Amino acid sequence: MIKAVTGTKDILPAEIPGWKYLESVVERIFRSFNYKEIRTPVFEETGLFARGIGEETDIVGKEMYTFIDRSETSITLKPEMTASVVRAYIEHSLGKQQQLNKLYYLSPMFRQERPQAGRQRQFHQFGCEALGSASPLLDAEIIIVAFSILKELGLKDIKVKLNSLGVPSSRENYKKILREFLKGSVKKLSEDSRKRYDANILRIFDSKIECDQEVMKDAPLLLDFIDEESKNDFELVKTLLTQSGIPFEVDPRLVRGLDYYTKTTFEIVSGKVGAQSALCGGGRYDLLIEQLGGVPAPGVGFAAGMERILLACENERTLNLPPESIDIYIIKLDKELTAAAFQTVLELRKSRLTAELDYLDRSVKAQMREANKLNARFVLFVGGDEYKSGKLNLKNMSTGEQRLFGMNDFQQIVQLIKM
Ligand code: HAM
Repeated sequence: MIKAVTGTKDILPAEIPGWKYLESVVERIFRSFNYKEIRTPVFEETGLFARGIGEETDIVGKEMYTFIDRSETSITLKPEMTASVVRAYIEHSLGKQQQLNKLYYLSPMFRQERPQAGRQRQFHQFGCEALGSASPLLDAEIIIVAFSILKELGLKDIKVKLNSLGVPSSRENYKKILREFLKGSVKKLSEDSRKRYDANILRIFDSKIECDQEVMKDAPLLLDFIDEESKNDFELVKTLLTQSGIPFEVDPRLVRGLDYYTKTTFEIVSGKVGAQSALCGGGRYDLLIEQLGGVPAPGVGFAAGMERILLACENERTLNLPPESIDIYIIKLDKELTAAAFQTVLELRKSRLTAELDYLDRSVKAQMREANKLNARFVLFVGGDEYKSGKLNLKNMSTGEQRLFGMNDFQQIVQLIKM
């Protein structure tokens, strides 16, 4: 039998309330900060991600789902949203309509990584990009948004890690210093880190391998070498976060896995989801819009992994959602009234109630059992002597109270249920 592809997951009906709740919190908080939703296609031309994220990153080098389509175009399923949002911003000249565009999104993403708890090949992100302003207020704002969402979900075991990567010129200068520091120890590094020494030296900080960590423990830190402007911006971001009551720690070893960052970067990690602990990550990318062919403009944003957040909520037992229920279940007492019961349930649905009836020709007892299983707040009996005398019997399932209504009192039934 054919199963779901490795690293992909079905989200079954029982899990949907958790997803919907998360989505509702995300949308409510983004709207309160005046972010507007954007939706972009699931696939893009491969070059967008190669140029945007960086050829030397793990995402572009190893993880993208790329194929040649029937018109010989190289297509990639999006591994992240920032490049796509920037592409859309440039393509539709959004910066001309208003200087600052604050955009948010929820979308599936695709990366061919080794699946494990909290890591899938199709996963979902929500996130935002604020395009057109270099103000550190926005750096602080997006961290506050991310933190507020996680707090609203009840998560407690979370930590904000903050760093600044400076501007490319100070970073290039620092890379030379780091290369010099590592020169004599390259042989002690893992094979992956040896490759990174030439291709993407900062990423050696990301290695979890002991021999790499041993070499890197005394390494000079980029934060000590960043330019004056980045330093001042970083100070302001820290002040704004402190003022807003957001606990954070500066982590000068935090390097992100995408090449476009400048200045502020951050991650929020959970202590409750195992090795893949980053619930979200982001930062500033003041050169990306220009790099992708747009009129130069700064940007800042973050994205969060929804599966990981739901896993953290489950492990911290924060989502105590009420069990799902329906408004009313129709119990058909006589087989001949099948068509009448069907009309009744349709009328109730037209009145915007969640109404259900039996499709399996079940006995009255089994229908009652089904109504209980569905957590029906009311049941309506169609049939029996009452029906013959022109009445419908409505039962309130939590109080057990029953009331008779005339066939023409339909709206009264609806009002009562909606109360
Ligand atoms: P990222 O750090 O690659 O950043 O991904 C953001 C979040 O997506 C991660 O913290 C994690 O929660 C989730 N995530 C990533 N890969 C997987 C996976 N294979 N399975 C499950 N969850 C995953 C970005 O994507 C940037 N675009 C963020 C950004 C926006 N920077 C600026 N603006």
